Amino acid sequence: MTRPIFILNGPNLNLLGQREPHIYGSQTLAELASACRDHASLAGASIDFRQTNQEGEFISWLHEARAQARAVILNPAAWTHYSIALHDALKALDCPVIEVHLSNPASRESFRHVSFVAPVVTGTIAGLGAKGYLLALDACFHLAPGARP
Ligand code: DQA
Repeated sequence: MTRPIFILNGPNLNLLGQREPHIYGSQTLAELASACRDHASLAGASIDFRQTNQEGEFISWLHEARAQARAVILNPAAWTHYSIALHDALKALDCPVIEVHLSNPASRESFRHVSFVAPVVTGTIAGLGAKGYLLALDACFHLAPGARP
């Protein structure tokens, strides 16, 4: 068995489909999880898809990923813009890490132009909506083809 790809979602993403759909789209988080699961299984990979509104829980999941994940995809939502704790936890990961944003923070309010995440991840996909998660999975297949058992 290969290790799963962790897909970790931060605050307010449980409201996908209801919250500012003109920015974040009409797909719900459950639908997004299902699309990611289907896309991964076509490539013979498994995912562990999670969401939390608690920063400490999110950081504990990153610690868990150190031993358990083949790669990590994360949408840290607002924590992106101010969390040094998240920055430090990401630095402790050895596997490929892809940051995803549904919208393009660089084209939005100036407080979203600051990122504590971008400097410590393998790469970032932003502004492509839910499709960005599938592209991030493709990046993981490319970067971490042979996961350890
Ligand atoms: C987001 C962008 C963040 O600036 C924002 O706080 C979010 C969602 C995105 O996916 O576009 O909650 O990460």
